[in-house]
Amino acid sequence: MNDLAPLLTPEGRALLDEVRDTDPAHELAVATRLRREHPAGLVSAALGQARLRQRAVAKFGEQDAGRMFFTPDGVEQSTRASVAAYRAERFKELGVTSVADLCCGIGGDAIALARAGIRVLAVDRDPLTAAAARANADALGLAGLIEVREADVTEVDTAGYDAVFVDPARRGGRGRIFDPEAYSPPLSWAVGAARTASRAAALKVAPGIPHEAVPAGAEAEWISDGGEVKEAVLWFGAGQAAPVRATLLPGPRTLPSRGLPDPAVRPPGRYLYEPDGAVVRAHLVAEVAEELDGGLLDATIAYITADEHRPTPYATAYEITDRLPFNVKKLKALLRERQVGVLTVKKRGSAVEPEELRRKVLPKPHGRASVTVFLTRVDGAPTMLLGHPAR
Ligand SMILES: C[S@@+](CC[C@H](N)C(=O)[O-])C[C@H]1O[C@@H](n2cnc3c(N)ncnc32)[C@H](O)[C@@H]1O
Repeated sequence: MNDLAPLLTPEGRALLDEVRDTDPAHELAVATRLRREHPAGLVSAALGQARLRQRAVAKFGEQDAGRMFFTPDGVEQSTRASVAAYRAERFKELGVTSVADLCCGIGGDAIALARAGIRVLAVDRDPLTAAAARANADALGLAGLIEVREADVTEVDTAGYDAVFVDPARRGGRGRIFDPEAYSPPLSWAVGAARTASRAAALKVAPGIPHEAVPAGAEAEWISDGGEVKEAVLWFGAGQAAPVRATLLPGPRTLPSRGLPDPAVRPPGRYLYEPDGAVVRAHLVAEVAEELDGGLLDATIAYITADEHRPTPYATAYEITDRLPFNVKKLKALLRERQVGVLTVKKRGSAVEPEELRRKVLPKPHGRASVTVFLTRVDGAPTMLLGHPAR
């Protein structure tokens, strides 16, 4: 499909409603029936759009995804609603009332900004993507706050806006792009645009961005949602109290850096804490270890060990019951003895494949007990720590 217009006609909208819940297994039969009454191109466009909407539910929720318009890249690259809403609130708290959303895609961020009451200029150079962003602003009743412009962002004047947000394209013909200068537009251009913003600016980047690539004066924020790292954002003019922070959704719970040195290595205590991915990416394990009065199991591994159970949103606590040198036979014998049926394998600093290990060591027939095994190093030595989530 290279044009959204037919789907926006009354016939297109009626067809979209009709194919809304089509089971992919029945798509061919449904298409054959509908083609007797509607143009074939329109039928396949509607079925394609229904499929994209189903894929978008995970990011936008059933209600919005069912009304929005997507392109395949647009679904893939859009910011999930929870993260976009959090960012929009942050802009709002900074007193921002208007944002130039440069590289708006199908409008994931523009929608959240408008819902926070912020006026948005949403720019994308791809005609179909810009058409989807416009259709989404209409479909969600936000057209009064979102102006969509089909243009190259490098040619857009952002002078009339309080803030700039740039979410460059990070996928090339050969998959994901890791070099920030290979983004479209390149990160250096986005940083230049951010520095011209009158009040604040934010640039979305890949969570793997090296800390050395964070521009001077910017705050880098790593965001996870439901324990999964989603993105990193570089903030400019956001009154940064700390150069780095980790933010966990839902919440938000935000942990700023305090510039602490790496925690000391210490012998394993009764509890092992697995820090959230955003904490690890933001290099804030020391901040969490201090809160837990803990240390590291190994200087190069982000597992914290401590004597007490202190619940924290920034790490998941496990009570450790056994410590063994890495040895598959011993693990197998121990799991048999304990009648284990469910084995959760966690690893840092080990090349072992969890699925393969589970296959080798789980007793048959399975017992009923659950165990978590951590494959890691304790002060350099390959070690297995067994335990369960702390209660
Ligand atoms: C990562 S997506 C944006 C996703 C968006 N924030 C959302 O939540 O839906 C990046 C977009 O940048 C657009 N783009 C890349 N280079 C551009 C340029 N120079 N000018 C305008 N748009 C550009 C692409 O067409 C793509 O839609």
